[in-house]
Amino acid sequence: MEEFSGIRLSRREFVVVGAASVSAAAVPAGAATPATAPAATAPASLTPVAAQVSLVVNGQTHALRLDTRTTLLDALREHLHLTGTKKGCDHGQCGACTVIVDGRRINSCLTLAVMHEGARITTVEGLGSPTRMHPMQVAFVKHDGYQCGYCTPGQICSAVAVLDEIRAGIPSHVSPDLNARPQVSPGEIRERMSGNICRCGAYSNILEAITEVAGSQS
Ligand code: FES
Ligand code: FES
Repeated sequence: MEEFSGIRLSRREFVVVGAASVSAAAVPAGAATPATAPAATAPASLTPVAAQVSLVVNGQTHALRLDTRTTLLDALREHLHLTGTKKGCDHGQCGACTVIVDGRRINSCLTLAVMHEGARITTVEGLGSPTRMHPMQVAFVKHDGYQCGYCTPGQICSAVAVLDEIRAGIPSHVSPDLNARPQVSPGEIRERMSGNICRCGAYSNILEAITEVAGSQS
């Protein structure tokens, strides 16, 4: 006889109970449960919550009702169908999803849409159109600042914001004097653009494009 939670079982009964509990634990996630099993109910904390959010995207106001877990990137791509902004890593590591929010560039995969109520968001579609391109878009074309083009919308949004940051006097890690206004230089541009990865390696052409636009703005 075996003692099991205070119940005495024969060795055969003990083996049967053990096998039953192992097979129950081995049921894969999502598999149908036996009709006799009590229905599983999701904890309240896992129930999706929807919220209303208003975003001003490329000058147009959009009222959206979103699952509160929706990233700004998914709100733009999946709900507003602005697919210019790209999903590369979805982990804040590549910069493909860069957009400009209230004048600052951010990785839209790392922020929730509901955190940006009323924010003014600029995506690559808002910078220019094929017939009226932004000077940065023109420069990228002129200098071949891309190959496959997947990183390009993020590169361009970042580049536009980088020149605004330098103009605003915001120093970077390579600015030689934190009390002086930073100057446009290859080092400054490389450092500030280091969060935008280009797997095609178009970096030198991207640098040329940004440098040209910086020169034309000074
Ligand atoms: S997709 Fe957002 S940083 Fe890579
Ligand atoms: S152009 Fe292909 S990843 Fe940058």
